[in-house]
Amino acid sequence: MDHFLYRNGELYAEDVPVSDIAASVGTPFYLYSTATLTRHFQLFDQALDGMDHMVCYAMKAASNQAILKTLADLGAGMDVVSGGEYARAKAAGVSGDRIVFSGVGKTRAEIRQALEGGIRQFNVESEPEMRVISEVATALGKTAPITVRVNPDVDAKTHAKIATGKSENKFGIPISKARAVYAEAAALPGIEVIGIDVHIGSQLTDLEPYELAYRKVAELTEQLRADGHTIKRLDLGGGLGIPYARSNEAPPLPQDYGALIKRTVGHLGCEIEIEPGRLIAGNAGILVSRVIYVKQGEGRQFLILDSAMNDLIRPAMYDAYHDIVPVVEAAPGVEQQPFDIVGPVCESGDTFAKNRMMPPLQAGDLVAFRSAGAYGAVMSSEYNTRPLVPEVLAKGDQFAVIRKRPDFDEIINRDTIPPWL
Ligand code: LLP
Repeated sequence: MDHFLYRNGELYAEDVPVSDIAASVGTPFYLYSTATLTRHFQLFDQALDGMDHMVCYAMKAASNQAILKTLADLGAGMDVVSGGEYARAKAAGVSGDRIVFSGVGKTRAEIRQALEGGIRQFNVESEPEMRVISEVATALGKTAPITVRVNPDVDAKTHAKIATGKSENKFGIPISKARAVYAEAAALPGIEVIGIDVHIGSQLTDLEPYELAYRKVAELTEQLRADGHTIKRLDLGGGLGIPYARSNEAPPLPQDYGALIKRTVGHLGCEIEIEPGRLIAGNAGILVSRVIYVKQGEGRQFLILDSAMNDLIRPAMYDAYHDIVPVVEAAPGVEQQPFDIVGPVCESGDTFAKNRMMPPLQAGDLVAFRSAGAYGAVMSSEYNTRPLVPEVLAKGDQFAVIRKRPDFDEIINRDTIPPWL
């Protein structure tokens, strides 16, 4: 459930008409709902009730300072994957002991940054990385808490570009090698092994892959403990999917996921971390866009919008489906028509949907892409020198621009001319 609902035929973000925001901010823009972010965070938090746990929001999904602060104020920790994300988390007021550092290629500079600023743990992805963390920590006179990310070789049954838990994927250490890697870790200076990490993919719509992976992690926990290691924390990753086509998708709920966690690893007495991103932010955000033209093609009509693949890359990159709805609802009984919905960027890949049934629309009308809060604004670019799409946050009857649209000078002035020109 989210807080983008129609009232008297008009789409609202909480208590604000979306068209009022469009009139004030201009289009396109991302629009988030505080109440929805809050609700989604709390669903996870409650799902792990009774266990020692921390919900570490995977901020790669949507990393605006205002979103981070909203979640941090509710008690979220953060899962970061770069020095930039670490800096963003700190800037939003999150203390180092609530930040976990994931990612396959942490550089020395990033490791140093996190050790100096404080870190809850590094999720180590390879032996060479573990050795570098040991070296950097030793040089700084610090001890780095680590988990090792294991790759359980489980099929997450999701899009190939976002599956991470099979042995063919670049992520983690094969679970079969884990005991040897933990033995090496125990002997290295400057690091302290505290647990195990696993993340098998994103947009999972079935709990079975989680069940398989978490059972393997439970078994490994017992083996490693028998080998003499302290395993007191399990980071179980993120990945729970959301309904994109609302009319016919019903992925498992955080509550079911929480029950599964309790069932598979609850007996181990470990502190549990999870790293959800998409489920917290995805349906808490929409992309609002205006129709520029309706163009009659050969046997089809194109809806040409003022948002494009640079603003929302998911359809072009993953063939992702997003519901696209009119901001002003059609009158009941109005017949829908098929549209190819496209942006103005100069390539055919800039297509959001083909043959999408929509009510009749005209130039100037507003539409909203649903489920765009996660992996939307963060993956946007200025391709075609289209200004980076702004972001707006609604709360009750208030709204605020949380990232403004840059003007052309700001964009151009980022370039510098070398002395010979
Ligand atoms: N933890 C780790 C280590 C991850 O790699 C990810 C996502 C997450 C947590 C959060 O997963 P989530 O709960 O959001 O599914 N750009 C793609 C999704 C990439 C996901 C990458 N890793 C998309 O637009 O679908």
